[in-house]
Amino acid sequence: MAENRQLTNAKSAKNDEFYTQYADIQKEVNAYLDFNPDTFRGKTVLLPCDDPEWSKFTRFFAENFERLGLKKLISTSYAAASKKIGTGAKKWGDWYQPSLFESESPQFDAEKTGVRGKIFVLDHDTNANGRIDLDDLEWHYLEGDGDFRSEEVCRLRDEADVIVTNPPFSLFREFLAWILGECKSKCKIENGKCKIEAATKNTKDTKKFLILGNKNAVSYTEVFPLIKGNLMWSGVTEWAGGMWFETMDSTDVDKVVDGKNMKNVASVWFTNLEHGRRHSPLELMTMADNIKYSRHKEIRGKGYFTFENYPAIEVPYTDAIPADYEGIMAVPRSFIDKYCPEQFEIVGIAEGESGKELGLKAVPKELKKLNRSLRDGQLYYMKDGYPEKPFARILIRARRGK
Ligand SMILES: C[S@@+](CC[C@H](N)C(=O)[O-])C[C@H]1O[C@@H](n2cnc3c(N)ncnc32)[C@H](O)[C@@H]1O
Repeated sequence: MAENRQLTNAKSAKNDEFYTQYADIQKEVNAYLDFNPDTFRGKTVLLPCDDPEWSKFTRFFAENFERLGLKKLISTSYAAASKKIGTGAKKWGDWYQPSLFESESPQFDAEKTGVRGKIFVLDHDTNANGRIDLDDLEWHYLEGDGDFRSEEVCRLRDEADVIVTNPPFSLFREFLAWILGECKSKCKIENGKCKIEAATKNTKDTKKFLILGNKNAVSYTEVFPLIKGNLMWSGVTEWAGGMWFETMDSTDVDKVVDGKNMKNVASVWFTNLEHGRRHSPLELMTMADNIKYSRHKEIRGKGYFTFENYPAIEVPYTDAIPADYEGIMAVPRSFIDKYCPEQFEIVGIAEGESGKELGLKAVPKELKKLNRSLRDGQLYYMKDGYPEKPFARILIRARRGK
């Protein structure tokens, strides 16, 4: 398929055009197959927000259609005219060019190409060459621009068993709600867009998904209850180092590889597909050994302190969690990357209303005057007579053979 998209000079305050690399998709998806070779067998997989003509998601799933045992693959793209490229960008008509794949297809329509979304479907051997692969994809224009909230894409979601994509960064919360929302019963179609209530209950039977999102999403009020409730977890690829994406914003580039502008983003996979890594417990030292041998200067020879407003110890690094501690521990958000639900229970998050509900005592007024960044619902400790707060903390407790 042609990859001749030109989106240069796309300066953006909120750029949603980041493209996932084939190797990253391959590595992640293959890990689910290692755990269960039938993860995708007999399933309809939907790749929304995906720009099938050049997305590596479409390419990977189409090329591996038979190996994965898919029943059907559906990809949808978002119209060029609707894309959020950036405030400094030219009008879409000045940068957009249909791909050769599209413009040489009999169904090409110059009136529709920039303003309509497209749908690509793969479910049978169209060219009768004995296998189902990329060359068997069929496509047509959608009725609308391909917005995932449109009625026609909602219907595709309802048809799908598994939803896989890197959704627009600016709409992550809404996208997750869209996957998990009991849209059929709850959404009201208004001007062609669904209004979806985020579902945090009864989601055991909802769609399976594998999506990319920012690490910080862990503490979103729409996301954390799902993680705490074991309805969503980190994917297989480890979080350290972020991920590299091809970016369309030529003014915000971290490196250029083979002529492609690349940007490092703090993105991680989130899923409700089972995989082996999340059931591997962390190997940890006892509290005494941490105090003696920890590689972290905050712990070695010093130990762990307790917060002023909550009976939890501060554990600034996941690898410094003391294996033998029975009480509540405050750990960094990145703990979720290593979270094994058989080893630990998530008690809550020390943020805003959630922190208040957990019983974190309010910060006294006189201390708020000393440190104006302190908020009720957050943990704080005293250092040299001055109140300090740690970075975002998740509260956990060890499971002991329960
Ligand atoms: C982060 S990019 C990822 C693209 C592709 N999935 C990949 O990873 O290579 C998100 C894509 O979603 C598209 N998009 C933005 N808003 C959308 C919406 N409301 N509905 C559908 N797609 C949207 C953007 O134009 C962009 O192409």
